Order: sequence, then structure tokens, then C-alpha cells
Amino acid sequence: VLSNHGKLLCVIMKMLKGKRVIVTGASSGIGEQMAYHLARMGSHILITARTEVKLQKVSTQCRELGAASIHYVSGSMENMSPQSCLLGGLDMLILNHVGSTHFGYFKGDIEHPRKLLEINVLSYVAMTVSALPMLKESRGSVVAVSSLAGKVGNPFTVPYSTTKFALDGFFSSLRQMLIVENANVSITLCVLGYINTGKAAMKAVSHVICNKPAPKEECALEIIKSGALRQRELHYPYISVTIPLILRDWVPDFLDALTRNIMDIEKVERT
Ligand SMILES: NC(=O)c1ccc[n+]([C@@H]2O[C@H](COP(=O)([O-])OP(=O)(O)OC[C@H]3O[C@@H](n4cnc5c(N)ncnc54)[C@H](OP(=O)(O)O)[C@@H]3O)[C@@H](O)[C@H]2O)c1
Ligand SMILES: *[C@@H]1O[C@H](CO)[C@@H](O)[C@H](O)[C@H]1NC(C)=O
Repeated sequence: VLSNHGKLLCVIMKMLKGKRVIVTGASSGIGEQMAYHLARMGSHILITARTEVKLQKVSTQCRELGAASIHYVSGSMENMSPQSCLLGGLDMLILNHVGSTHFGYFKGDIEHPRKLLEINVLSYVAMTVSALPMLKESRGSVVAVSSLAGKVGNPFTVPYSTTKFALDGFFSSLRQMLIVENANVSITLCVLGYINTGKAAMKAVSHVICNKPAPKEECALEIIKSGALRQRELHYPYISVTIPLILRDWVPDFLDALTRNIMDIEKVERT
């Protein structure tokens, strides 16, 4: 006998079997885990990232796990032509890649946020625009991976937060526009807390943030589920994202102070 949770998972697996899905930034971290879940569900998968050798490894693994088909496109997202990524049709577009960023004081280097906006935002816009005709036809879904840093200001992620807040503006407005146009394409914004992707950037954060990271495998599954269920937003981990978002709307100064206080500010490099 399956639990309710198990039943829901079966339903989601059936929903994604044979579906055509793109996952960007799938050579490592949460994107890689999403590719493996989709492979187990029997989807047609296209993955992207810059590092071709890693994409080849992830593709091999996906084939073994049961993907209906697996392709990859390698290259940097800020100068990738969105057309080169698209299959004959598309059911779900999962935008997940991020450019690397420094955790620390922002000293006014304007080129960094400029480049990060290209990678983290404008390529999301370009991919969405080229995918929309196919998604309208399939009544598909767009899933954009964001962060709590895209909802709440943080003293040490100024350029990163700039890009993640921008995603909220674009996708929230696009959702409205699609409804007005009567287009049945769902938009899901994923607001993630601290996840154990074990990246250098995250190691830099972990010595200043106290709480324990959540597992990337479960995170990846929750993102896919939220897209398949056409949810407006995903909060993962639920409690540690939802509570700050409630505080943000009611007592923003208190939340800002709390955000500063959970970090060991002395440990952040000033140079
Ligand atoms: N980990 C966390 O704690 C956390 C928290 C909140 C939100 N998130 C969000 O979750 C998503 C995934 O993060 P992650 O932790 O899994 O990161 P990750 O392990 O660093 O993965 C990033 C992916 O993006 C690709 N990428 C980087 N720069 C690129 C570029 N210029 N063009 C194309 N692809 C590029 C990387 O592959 P290549 O290097 O091969 O290009 C990699 O596959 C991101 O949107 C991130 O903001 C993560
Ligand atoms: C939109 O598409 C989904 C998925 O095909 C479907 O379940 C839903 O009923 C559709 N909604 C409308 C209003 O047509």
C-alpha cells in the first residue's frame, strides 16, 4: 500500500513519461540531479552547460537510468542561440544555470553584475521567448530556479540578488500576460534555500551561514514536481523559505536584522 506521498510521486512519474524536457545547467549540482530524476521517469531530455565532458557523463548516466532519449548542447548561455537547444517540440523548460559569483562585499565592479545579468536573466528571457510557441502548443510549463536571495536582500550577494530579483519581475509579469492572452503555459518560480551542492561558492557561504544544507536530490525532485503540478511558486526547504517570506511582508526590518545576524560577518573577507 502506497502512502499519499508515494501515490503523488507515481502520478508525477506518469505525467513526465515520454515528455520533452530541457534542463539548463545540468552538468552539476541540482540540474544534474533533475536530469537523473527525469531519466528515471522516462522523459526525452536535453541538457545544457559549458563543460562538455561533464555533459557526456551525465548523458551516459541518464541513458542507463532509462531516459526515452538524451541530448546535450554545450556552450555558455550568454551567447548560445536558443534555437540550437530546441527539440521538435517541448513540454517543459527548466531554467536552472547560474554564472559564478563572489560572496562578499560589492565594491562597485559594474562589469560583474552586467555579465551576471546576461547569464542569469537575459538568457532565461531568450530561452523562454523561443520556447513559448512550442509550449503554447503542448500546454507546457516553464520552471525558473531562483533563490531566497531573489526575494530578500542579503549584504553579501548584491550582484546575484540583482539577477534573481529580476527573474521574479520577468516571470511574474509573463504569467499575467499569458493569462490575459489565454495561453495555457504555466510559470513556476522556485525559491530555494540553502542546498548541499558542495560548490566552492557554497563552501564560502557555509562558513558564515549556520543552518545545515538540504539534499540536492530531494530539491531536484521537488522542482520537477512543482512544474508538473503547474504551481506558481515552490518554497524549498518549505519552512526555512516560507517563514522569511511571511516576515518580509509584515516586518521587513526585523527580517533584514535576522538575515544579518545569522551570518558571521567577521568571517567575510573585506578585500
Ligand atoms: N546550491 C544552493 O544552495 C542554491 C541556493 C539557492 C538557489 N540555487 C539555485 O539553484 C540553481 C542551481 O544551482 P547549483 O547549486 O546546482 O549550481 P552549480 O552546481 O554551480 O550548477 C550550475 C550549473 O550552471 C552551469 N553554468 C555555469 N555558468 C554557465 C554559463 N555561463 N553558461 C551555461 N551554463 C553555465 C554549470 O555548468 P558549467 O560550469 O559546465 O557551465 C552548472 O551545470 C541556480 O539557479 C542557483 O541560483 C542554489
Ligand atoms: C491547461 O493545461 C493543463 C495541462 O494540459 C490542463 O490540465 C488544464 O486543464 C488546462 N487549463 C485550461 C484552463 O485549459
